[in-house]
Amino acid sequence: MPDAWGAVRLARELARAGVRARVTRVIRGSATVTHVLACPSADVAQLLAPAMAVRLAHALSASDVRLAHDRGRVLVQVTLPGAARRPVPFASLPAGQGMATPIGRDTLGRVVTLDLSDNATPHALVCGTTGAGKSVALTTYITSLARQTAPDALRLLLLDGKGGETFAPFSSLAHLARPVVTDARDATAALAWACDELARRAARGWHQRLVVVVDEVRYILAGAALAHLEQMTAQGRSLGISCVVSTQYASADVLGRLAKADLPARLVGLVDNAQASQLALGIAGLDAHKLSGHGDMIFRGGGAVTRVQVALTAPANVAGLAQRDITAGEWATCKPALQVAEPAPVHPSQAPREPQAVDVAWAVGQGHERGAVPGILAIRTHCRSSDGYARRVRDAALSQASHLSRASQGRTVQAWAGGLAFE
Ligand SMILES: Nc1ncnc2c1ncn2[C@@H]1O[C@H](COP(=O)(O)OP(=O)(O)OP(=O)(O)O)[C@@H](O)[C@H]1O
Ligand SMILES: [Mg+2]
Repeated sequence: MPDAWGAVRLARELARAGVRARVTRVIRGSATVTHVLACPSADVAQLLAPAMAVRLAHALSASDVRLAHDRGRVLVQVTLPGAARRPVPFASLPAGQGMATPIGRDTLGRVVTLDLSDNATPHALVCGTTGAGKSVALTTYITSLARQTAPDALRLLLLDGKGGETFAPFSSLAHLARPVVTDARDATAALAWACDELARRAARGWHQRLVVVVDEVRYILAGAALAHLEQMTAQGRSLGISCVVSTQYASADVLGRLAKADLPARLVGLVDNAQASQLALGIAGLDAHKLSGHGDMIFRGGGAVTRVQVALTAPANVAGLAQRDITAGEWATCKPALQVAEPAPVHPSQAPREPQAVDVAWAVGQGHERGAVPGILAIRTHCRSSDGYARRVRDAALSQASHLSRASQGRTVQAWAGGLAFE
């Protein structure tokens, strides 16, 4: 695109099409060149017709051209070829305020923020095919949020479906509510804890935000864990709990109920086809399958649709965040103090009809909610709550918890119907 990124060719093509428009500015973005057009209002409709975008893309030899109406002007966004792209460095983003968290820049270079404290966007879905930039986007969001928010005002729960690949740089972040979760079993326990947090907040109020971030949801959440996540997205908004979830496919078989409405903010990179674009963004015609990948994304939230280049963090950006030494004494309780085996049914007639696993969610840092029981925050079963058996296992565990906390240091404990016994 030699002639001032196509401005001359663009003007010529518009004249050929009979549109009276003048290029007033050309703005070089990260993955795009945006031509700002002054155009008489009578010609705007013709200019914004879908066929015009196709015609201009052809004339400019561009893979994708998008036309947008912005405060009386028409913006012609021309996607640059891969070699001409340049990233948005994280360091170039200003720190945000409150929960309004800068994540990148739009095609005119303006900062784009994701604000999970906004009533319209309490939870977000990040979607795109492999290489679209989902993990980078989550990393940027976490880095940006942790940079602007003190650990006593924000807790983060990070679940990494890539086995630690994505969130390893955050392993000693001071904001962590518990260590980065990297396997499915821990994920169930962690989200059970977060669900208990919902109940605690509903009963006693809250002063500290909790943001749950899940990369590659389908590799780490299923069954009960997914149900916990659904509960948090359904109830979290007024209780200061938000969820950000990434997935390659936004289909119902991956996301369950979440696919429809519970993740209202959408950050969508390159997807496979028009149908996947509609599924991910919730509306047709935004053509995420024509994006160029690598953090070139469409952000839909609070009624607005914005093309954004997500900023790219460098290791120094993450290293500059508040850290906490995970090997220090107070973090010892982050490791599971107890490992509870599956309970054996007491009597066939009382056997639970649901899965029998008992999870122990362990206390993190300070703050034990159920009496002075270091190492135990909650014990939750997957049995039906009406099932007396499940309740007895839990009660037995709690009644012996104080004893366990003294005696179980570093040892495995098995839970059986009759109570708990040391191995
Ligand atoms: N915002 C960005 N700016 C610059 N480059 C980016 C950006 N996002 C992604 N990339 C490039 O694309 C590569 C893939 O990004 P990322 O790992 O985030 O993709 P993904 O969507 O998580 O893919 P997968 O589904 O395979 O995990 C990165 O290693 C980086 O080189
Ligand atoms: Mg990824």
